[in-house]
Amino acid sequence: MFLVRLVYASTISEGFGEADIEDILSKAKHHNSQNCVTGVLCFNRKFFLQCLEGSRSKVNFTYHKILNDHRHHKVVLLDYKEIAQREFAEWSMGYMPESSLTTPINTKYSGTPEFDPYAMSGESSHQLMLTLRDSVPIL
Ligand SMILES: Cc1cc2nc3c(=O)[nH]c(=O)nc-3n(C[C@H](O)[C@H](O)[C@H](O)COP(=O)(O)O)c2cc1C
Repeated sequence: MFLVRLVYASTISEGFGEADIEDILSKAKHHNSQNCVTGVLCFNRKFFLQCLEGSRSKVNFTYHKILNDHRHHKVVLLDYKEIAQREFAEWSMGYMPESSLTTPINTKYSGTPEFDPYAMSGESSHQLMLTLRDSVPIL
């Protein structure tokens, strides 16, 4: 089946902590490997920006689970496209926390140096993740 890419932004819910991010990443890596879904999760302790790529059915299935997860809210779909190839094929779910390396890159794709995925177009958020992939080690 052909490939799609989905990008969304969301905001952490009240009470979100370190254990939550660890649980999210371990579940994401486990399920995504089984479903042949790949991607990256950017996080600045307030907002998420996530890219999911894989077959349409598996990406949609994963996104529906994510939408129903109470650890975040204000989920906004930024981009959904059929694609010819994956861009994060090496990562069942790469993790990109904000750091001194990622901050300067935000200004290139949004109006402020703050990481605010709601302030980016779908295309800018996608380009931001590609620039991060090429310039910062993904965990
Ligand atoms: C920001 C965020 C990103 C997530 N990303 C993924 C993901 O890429 N793949 C996935 O299977 N679950 C992801 N989850 C977790 C799912 O929402 C859900 O909790 C999990 O898949 C349930 O796993 P379980 O049925 O084994 O308990 C994410 C959750 C959040 C809040």
